[in-house]
Amino acid sequence: MLESSDLRLKRIPLNNRSGQMPALGFGTLIPDPALTITATRGALEAGFRHFDCAERYRNEREVGEALQAGLATGEIRREDIFVTTKLWNTNHRPERVQPAFKASLDRLGLEYLDLYLIHTPFAFQPGDEQDPRDQDGRVIYDTGVTLLDTWRAMENLVDRGQCRAIGLSDITLDGVLPIYESARIKPAVVQVESHPYLPETELLEFCNQNGVVFLAFAPLGHGTKELLEDPVISAIAARVEKTPAQVLLAWAVQRGTALLTTPKSAARARENFDISPLPEDAFDEINRIQKRQRLNPVVQTGVPGFIARAS
Ligand SMILES: NC(=O)c1ccc[n+]([C@@H]2O[C@H](COP(=O)([O-])OP(=O)(O)OC[C@H]3O[C@@H](n4cnc5c(N)ncnc54)[C@H](OP(=O)(O)O)[C@@H]3O)[C@@H](O)[C@H]2O)c1
Repeated sequence: MLESSDLRLKRIPLNNRSGQMPALGFGTLIPDPALTITATRGALEAGFRHFDCAERYRNEREVGEALQAGLATGEIRREDIFVTTKLWNTNHRPERVQPAFKASLDRLGLEYLDLYLIHTPFAFQPGDEQDPRDQDGRVIYDTGVTLLDTWRAMENLVDRGQCRAIGLSDITLDGVLPIYESARIKPAVVQVESHPYLPETELLEFCNQNGVVFLAFAPLGHGTKELLEDPVISAIAARVEKTPAQVLLAWAVQRGTALLTTPKSAARARENFDISPLPEDAFDEINRIQKRQRLNPVVQTGVPGFIARAS
């Protein structure tokens, strides 16, 4: 059954009765600090109420500034917005989790987070260098900590009431299962790359069966022409009188996922927020696309695919 309700306002309940995530999310992976502020404000004004951040993006302060400005208008309350940030790979040691969380919270200028994610399952050498490398340029991993050790420290944050929910990111179904089975507080969300060229159907089924929110990043294929100009997507866009981006975002919400998109201008934020349900035949046609392509290899190494190394 396809949805007929307003996709723009859809909220997905989190497990543990820990709140509801607006399905349409705004991602803040924006390298330029000034652009981070204007884009985040543009997203708030367009109607986005879900904001995805990360300590690794090095712009939590700017995102916080934009959110605080929105809250200061009095038209939006803290409980109206859903804010996520992520623990970076160099902070997986349990004793580093609470300080990393607190530092993110302070940069964002918030008193609690709606969701805290382990950014990737790969632990890097602990320390302030976010991209530790040996003399040959190889990543220095940390073998002294397991993902379950880190998860236990994440659970403690929920116990202390500092974040409402916790989850995983850049992980495969095989990686999720052992954490899900051992967790005292089950992952509420799994964030992974997903679009018609990477539907991640098995992981989505697992999430649906277990009440875990599947949160898709790069729903527009990170803006690549290939997906935005895919003949199936373009033909549907023309037929339903929407843009290809709107078709891709509607498809993602209609298949039951939440999503993160990163429009940088106010006009694109309005465009990306203004989605409406696709007819069933169009939805099915997108499901039948056979092409497969992963754009971001972070899931294989923990090294971010969309962040330049020097940043
Ligand atoms: N967990 C992880 O490791 C991970 C990895 C990657 C991303 N993420 C999260 O997911 C978020 C979204 O990822 P993403 O940036 O790949 O999302 P995306 O929305 O698929 O791609 C953004 C790109 O699409 C373009 N775009 C946006 N709206 C458009 C429209 N209406 N028409 C045509 N092009 C459009 C943007 O161009 P302009 O710049 O010109 O607006 C930008 O280049 C990130 O910000 C981040 O929060 C997480």
